[in-house]
Amino acid sequence: MNPSTEPKVLEEGRVSWSSPSNIAIVKYWGKRGEQLPQNASLSLTLSASQTQMRVSYAPKGPKESPGLRSFLFQGLEKERFKARIQNYLHGLKDRLGFLDRVCLDIESENTFPHSCGVASSASAFSALALCLCEIQEELMGASLPREDFFRKASCLARLGSGSACRSLYAPLALWGNVGQGPFVDDHALPFREIHPDFLGLRDDICIVDGGVKPVSSSLGHELMEGNPWAKIRYATANRRVRQLMDILKSGEVWDFMELACAEGMALHGLMWVSPRPSLLLKPASLAIMEKVIECRRRHKIPLGFTVDAGPNVHVLSLDRDRKTVAAFLKEELAPLCERIIEDRLGEGPRRTAGEGQGGGRG
Ligand code: PMV
Repeated sequence: MNPSTEPKVLEEGRVSWSSPSNIAIVKYWGKRGEQLPQNASLSLTLSASQTQMRVSYAPKGPKESPGLRSFLFQGLEKERFKARIQNYLHGLKDRLGFLDRVCLDIESENTFPHSCGVASSASAFSALALCLCEIQEELMGASLPREDFFRKASCLARLGSGSACRSLYAPLALWGNVGQGPFVDDHALPFREIHPDFLGLRDDICIVDGGVKPVSSSLGHELMEGNPWAKIRYATANRRVRQLMDILKSGEVWDFMELACAEGMALHGLMWVSPRPSLLLKPASLAIMEKVIECRRRHKIPLGFTVDAGPNVHVLSLDRDRKTVAAFLKEELAPLCERIIEDRLGEGPRRTAGEGQGGGRG
């Protein structure tokens, strides 16, 4: 299907997708060109942390401007989010010709609190990209094979927020040319060659500070440009993705946890040695990280953590150790944080009950 082909009939409709957040084990930090990554990254696709998005579309009226007409987040108008989405849609006009002819009304809801350490841009932009791809198909009256549809959505999601391109795939996703396999820079692909032990991965997100991050990830990526360690970082990250691919295949859960901790710390190390150093971890973040290491030693269970560009710590564990981990979280970590969001590996995006006519993809 040629995306620039004129639509046959411009009708109204509504599409709806629910899409999860993800947490990178090997991190994407540093970009080039049109939101392309400087290194490959590999992430866990979450289950409980989802954005549910409904997009209604209609031909623009004679006096209306095309594009975003209204945006509600959790039922309320949010100017900051609306501006970001407007900007995103504007940038997609060459790829999605229909954006010049329709008005969109978007409603978005998260199953997790905003700015709480769960990457809401990943779930939101992946859900929005899926909705846009589906609208295009409804307007064209033609549909892509499922794999191509998701690949295209992953590409579009990437342009909204790099990490969002990974949320399209479960249980794990790999984004970036890692020098082996079919993996490329402009969209993610599922990574499915995993030992069954990893299917029981849990991510308990310890919210140390739910406030807005003092350093946005856009600024963080930008600062990598002047970072004296950048070249070494990109090579190390690609090597770690290849290592992680082997670990996931062979079921080395202890190595997995070690690599996850090393990467979480490396991300913050990179911020400390950047041209404008920033300190995003809080004393409680460090206390949680130390306690995780202590608990792993004491109970001899594979336990780890990772941290994104913020103070909140994702505690990684396996289902089979749940009893020990649940007690540890309750007794030792809960007193150190605002709340703990219990999450785990999920199943990826789902088409939900919108009123569009296309379907059966979720
Ligand atoms: O997708 P962005 O531009 O918000 O960047 C995400 C960066 C990290 O969350 C820190 C790492 C990652 O790979 O998700």
